[in-house]
Amino acid sequence: MLKVGILGGGQLGRMLLQSAANYPVETYVMEADENCPAAHLCHHFVKGNIRDFNDVYQFGKGLDALTIEIESVNDDALEKLEAEGVNVYPRTKALRIIKNKIDQKKFYAAHEIPSSDFVITQSLRELELHTDFFPAVHKLGSGGYDGRGVQIISSAKEMDKGFDAPAVLEKKVNIHKEIAQIVAVSTTGQTTLYPPVDMVFDPDLNLLNYQISPAELADQILWKIEAIALKVVKALESPGIFAVELFVDKLGEVYVNETAPRVHNSGHHTIEGNFSSQFDMLWRIILGYPLGNTAAIFPAAIVNLLGEPSYSGLAKYDGLDEVLEMDNVFVHIYGKKETRPGRKMGHVTILSADRKDLTYKQSRIRHVLKVVSDDQL
Ligand SMILES: Nc1ncnc2c1ncn2[C@@H]1O[C@H](COP(=O)(O)OP(=O)(O)OP(=O)(O)O)[C@@H](O)[C@H]1O
Ligand SMILES: [Mg+2]
Repeated sequence: MLKVGILGGGQLGRMLLQSAANYPVETYVMEADENCPAAHLCHHFVKGNIRDFNDVYQFGKGLDALTIEIESVNDDALEKLEAEGVNVYPRTKALRIIKNKIDQKKFYAAHEIPSSDFVITQSLRELELHTDFFPAVHKLGSGGYDGRGVQIISSAKEMDKGFDAPAVLEKKVNIHKEIAQIVAVSTTGQTTLYPPVDMVFDPDLNLLNYQISPAELADQILWKIEAIALKVVKALESPGIFAVELFVDKLGEVYVNETAPRVHNSGHHTIEGNFSSQFDMLWRIILGYPLGNTAAIFPAAIVNLLGEPSYSGLAKYDGLDEVLEMDNVFVHIYGKKETRPGRKMGHVTILSADRKDLTYKQSRIRHVLKVVSDDQL
């Protein structure tokens, strides 16, 4: 049986392990927190720091393969393990390109992959030299996650929101839709695409409201998205699962925003909604089986369950009964003991052949299901 390690023990690791239970594989997880969402679902849990060279190297030595659920892992250790024969998904080279937003943007430019125009800034002083770029988005080269490390700078007046560290300043795209395109790449270079996902944002709060798949797109735009996403993964030269986030602007132009070299939040609906989920697919790739069928069984929507603002402490789930009473609704609670404002605590998938039913239910679920705590801030 192959021994496969996952670096990181959050919800992505947890859902990977739920899929692993169907395959002949011995699973290992490394994470600093032994109460993390993935800890009790693996065969072997190792407490360790995924950013530390020795921890990652010791963990990976003797395993057949390794994968990640977060980009901020120690890539020097992965490179050494790879040289010693451990199969790493994604390959270290691809991970390094993606890990740093500066390198990622340079990579798109070098491969003529459409992405908004950019300049690199090393400091706030340098940012001041590029006022002609505004409105723009300033992105920290490394160290940012979940939107922290990204600042929209509309005009020179807001320049102090920028980062005084190596960063990318890119032109703000006039977004019509944000799309995520998940692609699977086998070790022999075969590829298959999932139906695209429409990430629906709240225009006022700039928060992700919900996701719906397949996205409603004109054929020409869908073809552009598929061609661009395939170009990205071909240029990355790595097997694995990749989520390419793209913008479609008001003129129908398509730009790559960023790529995740791993299973992704925008693909959680594939667990119930598609014949082979993104998690099932990654095991097929790692274990050397044929790629699965990405087709949708039903259109699907995902609502992310985030910790309510102003609650912090032991998590409680209000409204679960009402949600569980709905037809074709699937609740995933990640098992995090404590909630915090905005923390990803779970998600709910809705399946329906009728898109109106999807939008009605997502809105109802967002209204009734709340993660709170007895301890109010
Ligand atoms: N060039 C751009 N033009 C317009 N909006 C942008 C641009 N770049 C980023 N954004 C907005 O900011 C959001 C976050 O940016 P990005 O995806 O690069 O950051 P992130 O830190 O990876 O965030 P997350 O982890 O939430 O994906 C995007 O989803 C988009 O709404
Ligand atoms: Mg993003």
